[in-house]
Amino acid sequence: MAYPVNMTVKPEIAAFFDPQTNTISYVVKDPDSTACAVIDSVLDIDYAAGRITYGHADEIISHIKAKGLTLEWIIETHVHADHLSAAPYIQQKLGGKIGIGDKIMIVQDTFGKVFNEGTEFQRDGSQFDRLFADGDTYNVGTMEAFVIATPGHTPACMTHVFGDAAFVGDTLFMPDGGSARADFPGGDAATLYDSIQKVLQLPDTMRLFMCHDYGPNGRDIRWETTVADEKAHNIHVGAGKTREEFVKMRTERDEKLDMPKLIIPSLQVNMRAGDIPTDKDGRPMLKVPVNAI
Ligand SMILES: [Fe+2]
Repeated sequence: MAYPVNMTVKPEIAAFFDPQTNTISYVVKDPDSTACAVIDSVLDIDYAAGRITYGHADEIISHIKAKGLTLEWIIETHVHADHLSAAPYIQQKLGGKIGIGDKIMIVQDTFGKVFNEGTEFQRDGSQFDRLFADGDTYNVGTMEAFVIATPGHTPACMTHVFGDAAFVGDTLFMPDGGSARADFPGGDAATLYDSIQKVLQLPDTMRLFMCHDYGPNGRDIRWETTVADEKAHNIHVGAGKTREEFVKMRTERDEKLDMPKLIIPSLQVNMRAGDIPTDKDGRPMLKVPVNAI
């Protein structure tokens, strides 16, 4: 299969694990320049207290500054339901453009209704600097990147490929973790299976980086694997598991899952590209819609 970028480039990748939400954020550096991108940053929230802090984001900012890097892109693989994005905070400190998949408009429409947002909440993705369509390319310094639409977990999920490394968001978990849920509004297990197949068609040696890891069966947290490893060993889709088997397993499993602890604040913030919503007086304020999700 032909891909639109040079896949022999080997980006330098630094991973930042957030133990509160089991999210892994990344700094991806062009090996031939000082340019870098941040993938899936995290804002710290004490939801019970309504308190937001910036320790995790500051760690990423310090790393970028210490290495003398230029931040060109702040990428969201999707609208996360389990953590708040720190994209605007990082952008304010370091610059860079915030990008997400163009199907964000579907997500904004769905959750704009759930949170009963007024007309001032635009559902056209305009809160983001760039909306990526399937197959789009962009550059981080001299390094080329391209995006693959990988919906199913959410409609706007995208996999970003930089050289020999792909950031799959929640399209896949580590082989012993399987896959992410597909039962959020707009999610679909059969669509997720098809998206996973697209990722598994990438070259066998391609490095895959996860957005989450929960250390199944007590193992240490891990976030990097390969296409070959996922194809052979993924417990949900590996070793030739069929679409029907996957949909049955995924649907039964999703019925038993609780909502993520931070889904209510996460969606309100992340559908706004990480901006905290404000009330009529301009004060930062979050809502809790009752019996709506
Ligand atoms: Fe997610």
